[in-house]
Amino acid sequence: MKSVAILHASQLVTLSGPKRPRIGGEMSDLAVIRDGGMLIRAGKIDIIGPSNEIEKNAGDAEVVDGAGKVVLPGFVDAHTHLVFAGNRLEDFERRARGETYEKIAAAGGGIWSTVEKTRASNDADLLAQAKKHVNWFLKCGTTTVEAKSGYGLTLEDELKILRVMRRLNQETPLEVVPTFLGAHAIPREDRPSVYVDLVINEMLPRVASEKLAEFCDIFCERGYFDIEQSRKILSAAKKLGLKLRMHVDQLTNSGGAKLAADLGATTADHLEKTDEQGIAAMKAAGVQPVLLPGSVYALGSTSYPRAREMIDAGLAVVLATDFNPGSSPTVSMPMILSLACTQMKMSPAEAIAASTINAAYSLQRGEKIGSLEPGKLANFSIFDCEDYRELAYWFGIPQTHSVYVKGERVAGA
Ligand code: NIG
Ligand code: FE
Repeated sequence: MKSVAILHASQLVTLSGPKRPRIGGEMSDLAVIRDGGMLIRAGKIDIIGPSNEIEKNAGDAEVVDGAGKVVLPGFVDAHTHLVFAGNRLEDFERRARGETYEKIAAAGGGIWSTVEKTRASNDADLLAQAKKHVNWFLKCGTTTVEAKSGYGLTLEDELKILRVMRRLNQETPLEVVPTFLGAHAIPREDRPSVYVDLVINEMLPRVASEKLAEFCDIFCERGYFDIEQSRKILSAAKKLGLKLRMHVDQLTNSGGAKLAADLGATTADHLEKTDEQGIAAMKAAGVQPVLLPGSVYALGSTSYPRAREMIDAGLAVVLATDFNPGSSPTVSMPMILSLACTQMKMSPAEAIAASTINAAYSLQRGEKIGSLEPGKLANFSIFDCEDYRELAYWFGIPQTHSVYVKGERVAGA
């Protein structure tokens, strides 16, 4: 495997620092090296520092000129629904005409319509569409994603989705961290109590025994799974050794953040309607909030989560795309950075810490990815701009120059 030397980066944004997620003022310190260089050997970062020092050690490494460019760790997208069939153009147009997400779902659109398409899709078609999504992620500079099942809602269809994720890991450069979200919605054919039992007694044991997921998630929301059903399902998942992530307080505040704290969940995601009690509960239990401004934006809402209060309370905030066909059809972390800064008043530095190192820790991969430090995987992106703040500032303009996974170029020039 050849060595690679990145030289003369206008800013090498390392995010080096303590071996834990960043909180409070730490989120503003990206440990930027100007005129920076990085030497990569055997897919890992060997040395990193001022360009002239790296040049001395470069030997016969392939040189990549970073002049006038920013180098950043690959984005880590800690909340996506990567595997699904089709799209939701009908919902999109109905929302443009003023209908709400909830009304469209009640009328037969919403999650259910994607479930029908995903059930009807065979393994090969589902895999082909997922590979298209994977390429989009890589092109935007994302090198690791968490991905949830949840558009199958039968044992076989949920397994089918999780197996597609396993194939993506084998056949594409994107690292996919699988999460079981059988409790995404109650399927039309089942009564709620019957479906909850099916998830607990049949789906979870299979997912765990086939090691198809690292995490278990649930959509805790009015009309989906209530607090008691959520507690039951997630307690069963925990007993089987799965870690927990949860969709909570997205459309209504049902006390989901507090439940995430009670259960010791790794993350509580969405949190648009979470209040100060929820924030305090997450802080006390060490739950990482995963904020998803893309879904607020795409649903045409203005109810963004209270990012500033969460950072000020010392929570290790994460930002993610929530890529899905219904509420957040984007894979673009730069777009999420823009929304975080303009709508949630995060600084560009805080937004980058939230989408790299903090996200990596939320996936229990903080020791391997999320920053550019010796010994970590050489997963990084080079952008056509001189200052990292430009990534959040110029919105809707692709700035990716090239993307590397384990030292190999996987997208871009
Ligand atoms: O995170 N909230 C639930 N799940 C997704 C939406 C899924 C869909 O609409 O297909 C979300 O927003
Ligand atoms: Fe989601």
